[in-house]
Amino acid sequence: MTTPAKPRVAILISGRGSNMQALVDAARGPDYPAEIALVISNRPDAPGLAWAKSQGLPTLALDHKLYEGREHFEGQLQSMLELSKIDLVALAGFMRLMTAPFVGRWSGRMINIHPSLLPAFKGLHTHEQALAAGVRISGCTVHFVSPEMDGGPIIAQAAVPVLTSDTADALAARVLAAEHKLYPLALARVARGEIVLNAGIVQIQPVVNSGINQEPALFSP
Ligand code: GRF
Repeated sequence: MTTPAKPRVAILISGRGSNMQALVDAARGPDYPAEIALVISNRPDAPGLAWAKSQGLPTLALDHKLYEGREHFEGQLQSMLELSKIDLVALAGFMRLMTAPFVGRWSGRMINIHPSLLPAFKGLHTHEQALAAGVRISGCTVHFVSPEMDGGPIIAQAAVPVLTSDTADALAARVLAAEHKLYPLALARVARGEIVLNAGIVQIQPVVNSGINQEPALFSP
């Protein structure tokens, strides 16, 4: 009996790529239910892209500045994803907004990680926002991508404490460590079809010992 092929994942990055590394490392496990089939960066000089190359992963630099507009860039991106027979897209520090038609094409199959407990603190400078708001708990969120930036249906979250002594950098480091645990767990559950998007609503099938509690989908680092 042949084992069914694992879903093929493309990771899209723009920079450092530490979340990409966490996904790649997790996917090296024989039981991980997804294969990292392609790493794409819109910045040719992204350190994460160099790392992916050094690991022998299929990589692609797609410099958005060489395209006339978002539609052209996304047209090329779509072609590359189709050529590589990609099933799922994982954004990992990918710093380009995407058009509604592209997002719609990947609805339920494109996920992102954001370094706050959404819907709080969307956009950039999330840790500065969290400190300015005086929250005592922050964290990270994996969500399906929707046309609204950082506004898509939530898949899973991890919480970390905010300390009174925190700087934005200290908080960022604590949240990032949680991101590296949460993202591989969340991607695995999406890849197994345990978490699906149905008419805009996230449906989570109960799974024992998944690392994410059932309700709410919360991971404790
Ligand atoms: C992470 O904090 C991620 O949540 C956000 O951008 C950052 C990317 O970091 N979307 P890295 O490139 O994965 O190290």
